[in-house]
Amino acid sequence: MTSLRAGSGELAGKVALVTGAGSGIGYAIAQRFAAEDAAVAIDYLGHGADAKTLARDLNDNGAKTAAFEADVTDAAAVEALVAQVVERFGRLDVLVNNAGIEKLQPLLEIDEASWDSTLAVDLKAPFLCMQAAARRMKESGGGSIVNISSIHEDFPFPSFTPYAAAKGGLRMLMRNAALELAPLKIRVNNVAPGAIATPINAATLADPVKVQRLQEIVPLQRMGTPEEVAEVVLFLASDRSSYVTGSTYFVDGGMVRYAEAL
Ligand code: BGC
Repeated sequence: MTSLRAGSGELAGKVALVTGAGSGIGYAIAQRFAAEDAAVAIDYLGHGADAKTLARDLNDNGAKTAAFEADVTDAAAVEALVAQVVERFGRLDVLVNNAGIEKLQPLLEIDEASWDSTLAVDLKAPFLCMQAAARRMKESGGGSIVNISSIHEDFPFPSFTPYAAAKGGLRMLMRNAALELAPLKIRVNNVAPGAIATPINAATLADPVKVQRLQEIVPLQRMGTPEEVAEVVLFLASDRSSYVTGSTYFVDGGMVRYAEAL
């Protein structure tokens, strides 16, 4: 049972769409936004039961949310999703491109299907959602788009090459979109999480040696929580960040700056 933490109405009157919100970071963002009085569209594909339970629990606590199933790698499905959100809540002010996948595969073993599926979810989908959302935001006078990228938009990630390539692409997608959409009063930024305890890195979390190694290379010496990422996403979604566009905010305990003296 999820309960609505007390917020200060920071997103009151705004409508937000969060992709991949049935688990992990997206789930925490949906909760945080609802606590700040946004109407929240909870997009999901693989975590239907969790997404629907989240929406029901939030609504039982006075929030305005709804769960929508959509494959965000499909242009027609994205168009339909955004249309449904606008029909349901009347407008769209905030898009969080959160849905993502990754697969451990050494470079020489990557098959075409896993390259294609990773690039589709991690790069093509944010583009499709951004384009569909920005067309609506243009009509209503502006908005905020936040892409959940990764420290790996900048930091190599051996054995996860399609993921790192997609996140690097997401960095430039964000920068280009920020420039093209600025005249429409649509801001575009990335939030780049480091090692956050979520289902996407369940295999790492289950291996004490890997967890220990991760903690050694994170200057703050621990993994982060989805709630710590959601806090920065909230800032970028809200009008408090009204002069921020084209930037990446790292939420990684300093991991992307890791270095050691020899
Ligand atoms: C990945 C995680 C990884 C973390 C730090 C994230 O983008 O999804 O699997 O543990 O980066 O490397």
